[in-house]
Amino acid sequence: MKKIKFTETVLRDAQQSLIATRMPFETFEPILSTMDKAGYYSLECWGGATFDSCLRYLNEDPWERLRKIRKACPNTKLQMLLRGQNLLGYKHYPNDVVRRFVAKSVENGIDIIRIFDALNDVRNLEVAVDQTIKSGAHASGTICYTLSPVHNTKAYIKLAKDMESMGVQSICIKDMAGIISPKEAYELVTALKENVKLPIILHTHCTTGLGPMTLLKAAEAGVDVIDTAISSFSGGTSQPATETLNYILTQDGYKTGLDTGVLKEINDFFKPVKADALKSGLLNPVVLSTDTDALTYQVPGGMLSNLVAQLTAQKKMDKFEEVLEETPRVRKDLGYPPLVTPMSQMVGVQATSNVLAGERYKNVSKEIRAYVRGEYGKAPGKIDPALIKKVLGDEKPIKGRYADTLGDGYEAAKAEIGAKAHSEEDVLSYIAFPTQAEAFFDKRDERAKNTFKYTIEKID
Ligand code: CO
Repeated sequence: MKKIKFTETVLRDAQQSLIATRMPFETFEPILSTMDKAGYYSLECWGGATFDSCLRYLNEDPWERLRKIRKACPNTKLQMLLRGQNLLGYKHYPNDVVRRFVAKSVENGIDIIRIFDALNDVRNLEVAVDQTIKSGAHASGTICYTLSPVHNTKAYIKLAKDMESMGVQSICIKDMAGIISPKEAYELVTALKENVKLPIILHTHCTTGLGPMTLLKAAEAGVDVIDTAISSFSGGTSQPATETLNYILTQDGYKTGLDTGVLKEINDFFKPVKADALKSGLLNPVVLSTDTDALTYQVPGGMLSNLVAQLTAQKKMDKFEEVLEETPRVRKDLGYPPLVTPMSQMVGVQATSNVLAGERYKNVSKEIRAYVRGEYGKAPGKIDPALIKKVLGDEKPIKGRYADTLGDGYEAAKAEIGAKAHSEEDVLSYIAFPTQAEAFFDKRDERAKNTFKYTIEKID
């Protein structure tokens, strides 16, 4: 019998794509034990923007969230998304920090780490992959899928083979923009199946409307795992619906291992959560519709909703089309980086700045400067020499692996945050998001003090 497995994304990518990762733990806590019985291959629930959002907006300790999910879901593999040497942030971290972060993620409950590099530069995956395997977890090597004159099947096969020799246990095709077509997915999965011996996973988004058809064709090519979201949090910039794909594939003779009754319970739970998000405005209906522009602009779901938020806040939504048109031009200048975090934000911010300033590259962010210098790794194509000159002047781009020039980082950060950090996890939160983590620690200490006072008063 043909087999296919499902990764459920509602707790990470689906809510990141639709509601900017603003779902507090308390909201989904009651459904976790049910989710544990659905028969998923894995539950994507951590990493990506969840960590930042917990500290910045939800006043939650991300590590505690992970431990609580682990406790409530003892039978399902927990999965996180990690940006290789960037961890969850926007810059490269020292190797010792990457090792500690990975080790602690596994220790706190993660089973599978999907590791990608925004530029598909394998040197940026090495340390995270090595530590994941050493910590006893599953390292999923990731291809950031994009279309450009320098990205083709041959290049993706080479990347997959390089990751296979690094020891990864599966290969994930990560199509963050929802642009991989059914035909392209069929061909790429077939080619990967012929050239590597590992399970192949496909991750896509519904942004352009291709999603469900693409997953079906990928299944026909023998893909082993697909990413889907429970239907109330599916579609638009999110993933195709879990129930729909389960329905289609079961009818086609695949064994999915999913329990439709449990899926219904999960969906019934999330329906009112979605309704509330629509009512409060947290969920903008724009991100729920099909937008074929992405086939031209290759703008991923998260980036699209960020651009809308950014321009709305500045009351410049009338410039939306212009910014969308500028985005691929900036990308070309930068040597065709895939539009995935942090590159998607960097390209998006630069395109916005180019449009709003009325002059291209009048302002260049320090991140773009670092990219042009080579601090993010090697660009897939050639960076425009005129842009290099404009940004760096006489300075030369660096050679080699940037993180190797950083030395160690953990002990210095630990000394810096001092007693406010109560654990190694806290220090890692501080390294990842210093300002947000410190503000969170202060609030946490304040809360603890108040609880203590209250207890004393009660005793009196
Ligand atoms: Co995604």
